[in-house]
Amino acid sequence: MRKLLVTGGAGFIGSNFVHQVVNDTDLDVVVLDKLTYAGNRASLDGLPEDRVSLVVGDVADEELVDSLVQQTDAVVHFAAESHNDNSLRNPRPFLDTNIIGTYAILEAVRKHGKRLHHISTDEVYGDLELDDPERFSERTPYNPSSPYSSTKAGSDLLVRAWVRSFGVEATISNCSNNFGPRQHIEKFIPRQITNLIDGVRPKLYGAGQNVRDWIHVDDHNAAVLLILDKGVSGETYLIGADGEKNNKEVVELILELMGEADGGYEHVNDRPGHDLRYAIDASKLRSELGWTPRYSDFESGLAATIEWYRANEAWWRAEKAAVEAAYAAQGQ
Ligand code: NAD
Ligand code: DAU
Repeated sequence: MRKLLVTGGAGFIGSNFVHQVVNDTDLDVVVLDKLTYAGNRASLDGLPEDRVSLVVGDVADEELVDSLVQQTDAVVHFAAESHNDNSLRNPRPFLDTNIIGTYAILEAVRKHGKRLHHISTDEVYGDLELDDPERFSERTPYNPSSPYSSTKAGSDLLVRAWVRSFGVEATISNCSNNFGPRQHIEKFIPRQITNLIDGVRPKLYGAGQNVRDWIHVDDHNAAVLLILDKGVSGETYLIGADGEKNNKEVVELILELMGEADGGYEHVNDRPGHDLRYAIDASKLRSELGWTPRYSDFESGLAATIEWYRANEAWWRAEKAAVEAAYAAQGQ
């Protein structure tokens, strides 16, 4: 394998993946990214031009996807509409990108006999009670809640069908909530960090009791590289680093790390249909492929993330007012 096609490589996880591929492997990368509001060319700054190229285009453009798949050896498919709140305001782009986009990728890898790794989310499994001793595993039935997670579930099922019906060589991973540099400021952690930089109090949906299972983006991407190398076609791997925390705990830690421990936060309108808790059992990935996370200390990973947003205001500043205006319109 010499050249990867990385869809959504100008987004949060995809761009961190491209940096990791360049640093840790000899592979070259072609990024296919539509540069929606969530994609940022600057996230690929500093990468060597002889190893990484960016094609600006739509993953649902079958002709374009066909030609890029033909020119590369394997596809890592990150491109998606990724934000639950946006999917509640306007679901349509989620169907176009997450469903039709994945269909276009599948048809191209099928035609050209190329390997696919499909990036998905733990949200396809729905949510858990706070006191449920079970966590999500590869055997948990699909039960998505939002327009976002239902389109991701649909895309996973398409991949499974193409493996079974057409013999496409593909793996799937379902990961929990990522944090780290280059995450769009609409998302929970960067929203609160950039609010505090602006002297605005963090905003908690509802009572702040909802639990997410946090993983550093580099740990997610290391697992993806391992699955690409050693994963078994047709298999699904759950990725998670035992990082369960409720939103109130996360906000309190951000306040403390930013020297605002006494500043407090605001409770705002809850998200309709808000999933209560996600939790991943990643034993299969650990035992079958030997993966272990490197960022076991959430606090130091979060401190480094805060430093990144402080040091890279030019990366996010232009978006801030519009993101907050959209939230304010929902009482959030
Ligand atoms: P993101 O929104 O930061 O990035 C998505 C990227 O896809 C952007 O660069 C955007 O421009 C691009 N894109 C969107 N529509 C496109 C289209 N039609 N054609 C080409 N490019 C398009 O998302 P992210 O948080 O980096 O998530 C990446 C993937 O990981 C998604 O598939 C998401 O479902 C999955 N995932 C995310 C998390 C998380 O915590 N963020 C956790 C598990 C899985
Ligand atoms: O679990 C994986 C998923 O994690 C990914 O599939 C999604 O792409 C990714 O966006 C993320 O989904 P969430 O909905 O969990 O992430 P978000 O950052 O939007 O919210 C995290 C939690 O914080 C959630 O319980 C809602 C809450 N929240 C969010 C925002 C933006 C707040 O309390 N206040 C906020 O301002």
